[in-house]
Amino acid sequence: MRIQIINGPNLNLLGRREPGIYGDSDFDSYLGQLRQRYPDLELAYFQSNVEGELVNKLHEVGFGEADGIVLNAGAYTHTSVALHDALRAIETPAVEVHISNVHQREEFRHHSMIAAACRGVICGFGLDSYRLAIEALKG
Ligand code: DQA
Repeated sequence: MRIQIINGPNLNLLGRREPGIYGDSDFDSYLGQLRQRYPDLELAYFQSNVEGELVNKLHEVGFGEADGIVLNAGAYTHTSVALHDALRAIETPAVEVHISNVHQREEFRHHSMIAAACRGVICGFGLDSYRLAIEALKG
């Protein structure tokens, strides 16, 4: 099974960015742990700070190249009609993830523009949110 993990804006700074909220591990180290834990899965990774590049990646993998998508769209979660439309347009199921519990945070983080276009949403479990999303996609 091929799973595409997609991280949006500012998530390239994981480990350095607000460690009290997002932890002190960078994503590459965490990805290494995930690959060790799931040797039978193909875990591909893409990160961009650019909304259109995230849309392009969804198009690229969303018609057969991946069997599931784990998407942390970062702040675009709360604003992006383009990501919502892309998720609706593609065939591959996606799970929305967040490291932090967005519902315990500022009100502008409580609404997701993309949740309705995803299979489900996992938030608030730190980096383990990604593993839980993989478990959900594995079924
Ligand atoms: C985030 C939550 C978003 O509100 C925020 O803009 C992020 C990270 C999370 O993983 O907790 O960049 O998606």
